[in-house]
Amino acid sequence: MAKVLENTLSTIDWNDVLSNLGEGDKRDVAKIWDNKASLPDTPSYNAYKEVFERCEKAGYRISDIYWYDYFSGKNYPESVDNKFAKFTESTFLRSWISRVDPGRNVPYHWDVDDRADEWKELGELIRFTCFIDAPKWGSAFIIEDELFYGLEQGTIVEWNSWDSYHAATVAGKEPQYLYHFLGYV
Ligand SMILES: [Fe+2]
Repeated sequence: MAKVLENTLSTIDWNDVLSNLGEGDKRDVAKIWDNKASLPDTPSYNAYKEVFERCEKAGYRISDIYWYDYFSGKNYPESVDNKFAKFTESTFLRSWISRVDPGRNVPYHWDVDDRADEWKELGELIRFTCFIDAPKWGSAFIIEDELFYGLEQGTIVEWNSWDSYHAATVAGKEPQYLYHFLGYV
């Protein structure tokens, strides 16, 4: 079971982070797959392949699957990661903020990291998601068999496993923003 932890709102000004994100990087599954020849021969390639084939088989229109990512040091300050690491008593490895727009699904997948084997040498990998926006009707996040919906702004969820399968879907009128943190203890 994923664990719902304390609230970060007193530690990190998420509204300030959200209002200064700037332009995100579009993650477009169809484009990634069209350019598969340029993907390195890494676990990511196999993950994309599996996600692509699973979605295609399930009947998704692949061109409908996209989201946006924002990164620390570019779209939000690295101090956010430092504060978050301190708050969760873990050591930072990487973070990103995702945005899923109304009507979009980021279906069943897991986040493969090419550096996971290297990082596992450092300690136990630990993954968190923080619900950094005020609750928005229709914004759902699913980790394994648990649905996270309508959580108070700033709530952290600690994943059962860093590579759990998960999905995000937005059936409402506003985008869903989530902060993701991978670290180790
Ligand atoms: Fe993901």
